[in-house]
Amino acid sequence: MYLICPICKSTLSLSEKMYKCENKHSFDVAKEGYVNLLPVQKKNSKNPGDNKEMINARRAFLESGYYTPLVDHITTMISKKVSSTLLDAGCGEGYYGGQIADRLKEINILGFDISKEAIKKAAKKYKAQSFFIAGITDIPIQDHSIDTYLTIFAPIDAAEINRVVAEDGNVIIVSAGPNHMKEIAEEIYESYIPHDYDPTSVLEPYFDLKNKEVLTFNITLEDKEEIKAMLQMTPYFWSANEEAINHILSKNITITCDFQVHSFSKK
Ligand SMILES: C[S@@+](CC[C@H](N)C(=O)[O-])C[C@H]1O[C@@H](n2cnc3c(N)ncnc32)[C@H](O)[C@@H]1O
Repeated sequence: MYLICPICKSTLSLSEKMYKCENKHSFDVAKEGYVNLLPVQKKNSKNPGDNKEMINARRAFLESGYYTPLVDHITTMISKKVSSTLLDAGCGEGYYGGQIADRLKEINILGFDISKEAIKKAAKKYKAQSFFIAGITDIPIQDHSIDTYLTIFAPIDAAEINRVVAEDGNVIIVSAGPNHMKEIAEEIYESYIPHDYDPTSVLEPYFDLKNKEVLTFNITLEDKEEIKAMLQMTPYFWSANEEAINHILSKNITITCDFQVHSFSKK
C-alpha cells in the first residue's frame, strides 16, 4: 500500500490492525477491512457522500449486469502491467473495481470514497481490493504512486490527480454523455436538457486528452424493483414528485445508456 497520514502526510505503516505514522497519528482497520482516513476536522458534514439508500440502490442495479458493456470497455483501457496500481476514486459500493479485479487479476486495485456507508459495503464484498474513506481533494496516497486513476460518475480534482498519478500514468474519467437516461428526465421535467459535462478543461493544466470514446446502448427494465433501484441511484429520484415516480414505476421502460469515456496522460 501507499498510504500517507491524512493529518501530517507522513508515511503510514500497518501494525496490529492499525495504521500509524511517525507523529503517532493512528487509524484502525475496521472489521470489514477498510480504513477511515477522513479525519473529523476534514469532514464538511456529519455523513458526507452518498447515503445508505443510494448505495443500496446502486448495488442492486449494478449487480443486475446492465452496465457490463461499460465494464468491458474500461477494462480494455487499463494498464495491464503486472503489479500496476489502479485507484477507483469515488468508488461507491465497489462494483467497478470488483468487476475489473475479476478480469485483470494481475493489478492492485484500491478504492476510496467519502461515504462511509459506501466503503463499508464495498469492503464487505470485494475482498481482493483495499478500501479507505477519503475525499478527492485530499487523497491519503503517496505522490506518483498510481498507474491508473479511474473515476466513474464522481467529482474530480485536477491538482490532486496530478499529484498521485505516476509520470507515465493514465487517467480515465467516465461521465454521462448527452443522452444518458434521457427517458427518465423526459418523464420528470417539461423539457429535456442534454448533459454537457466535459472533464478536459478541468484537467487541462496538467493532462493532455489522449482519447474520447462514446459508448451508447439501450436497456429495457421490466421489474419494478429494478426500475426503482435505477431511479434511486440518480439525482432525478430525489428531485421528482411522487406522481412522476409512480408513473415511471407503472410500466416497462427502455432507457438510453450514454457514457463518455475520456482518457488523459500527463503533459
Ligand atoms: C454517482 S456515485 C458513483 C459511484 C461509483 N463510481 C459508481 O459509478 O458506481 C458518486 C460517488 O462519489 C462519492 N463522492 C462524492 N463526493 C466525493 C468526494 N468529495 N470525495 C470522494 N468521494 C465523493 C459519493 O459518495 C458516491 O459514492
